[in-house]
Amino acid sequence: MIRPVEWRNGAVVLLDQRLLPVQEVYRVYRDHREVARAIKDMVVRGAPAIGVTAAMGIALGMMTARPRELDRSFERICKRFAATRPTAVNLFWAIERMQRSFAAARGRSLEVVREILLQEALAIHEEDIANNRALGAYGAPLLPKRGTVLTHCNAGALATAGYGTALGVIRAARESGKLVTVLADETRPFLQGARLTAWELKKDKIPVTVITDNMAGHLFKSGNIDAVVVGADRIAANGDAANKIGTYTVAVLAARHGVPFYVAAPVSTIDPDSKSGDDIPIEERPAREVTHLAGEQITPRGVRVANPAFDVTPHDLIAAIITDRGVARAPYTKSLAKLLKATPRRSSTIAKRTSAKKATRR
Ligand code: MRU
Repeated sequence: MIRPVEWRNGAVVLLDQRLLPVQEVYRVYRDHREVARAIKDMVVRGAPAIGVTAAMGIALGMMTARPRELDRSFERICKRFAATRPTAVNLFWAIERMQRSFAAARGRSLEVVREILLQEALAIHEEDIANNRALGAYGAPLLPKRGTVLTHCNAGALATAGYGTALGVIRAARESGKLVTVLADETRPFLQGARLTAWELKKDKIPVTVITDNMAGHLFKSGNIDAVVVGADRIAANGDAANKIGTYTVAVLAARHGVPFYVAAPVSTIDPDSKSGDDIPIEERPAREVTHLAGEQITPRGVRVANPAFDVTPHDLIAAIITDRGVARAPYTKSLAKLLKATPRRSSTIAKRTSAKKATRR
């Protein structure tokens, strides 16, 4: 399985997604500030993967924090990660988990505090893979036995700790014998679909066809799309879902052509504090992502550019929200709240190894 983020020998290791599909380069980070920079610069991206990386980055930062300034250092490190990317709520969810662990470890020796933080980060990592498998199992029955599924951006192994959310549903459908093939929107401007979704599906031998974003309407109209599955960066309490820019356009097209539009995300992507999509902050990314393609300027110099990285799909365009705790359907305010309260099916705590002994071994 593709592992975009890992903890190895006391360091955070990230697959540099900016270089895919041409080069597969793994970078080793021993400084938490560089991990935060890597999130901002899209070395690692995708809501769950950002959360996992931030958790590991916090644990890493605390390895060198001075004993007498532990509280202040922890707060500073968390703030640094919280300032990296604003839309994916999994980032803030992971930081809050690390904060709860830190609070629970109060009064313990420095070595134990560090170990507890590391174990929490590793648990977030392991749980994400298990959650994606659970989500895949819930979502697979919704896909047709045979047909074409459109996806936008990359909500695959690369966007998570592994296996993926939207692509997790597709993987699970294929594993269950369904003959689904994938249509991947290229996803301008960062090309997550063309570069990343196509790369990981090809690696897994799942048939994939790349289209430019503006081809989707034509393919819907000619009856070539049977279902849509996308990921999400933040789902509001009413079911409005923020995902990569262009997702809303796909949802409108799907509704127009009577094609079911599914959102697949772990419950950590649901933000009960955002009542509707209007409360979700939309990240504005650097103009250069639009003005340049593979390093080449493609717009007139100095032209004004907009680069909102996400849009919000209103809940009434979503046929179902597939999570690791089951499938939510409208009315979402009720069904999502119920899922948030539900206990995960598998044992919730993926064995927490808190002994200081193991810390020294890592
Ligand atoms: O800007 P990105 O590449 O981090 O955006 C990623 C997406 O929008 C994904 O579709 C979303 O995070 C779901 S990932 C499982």
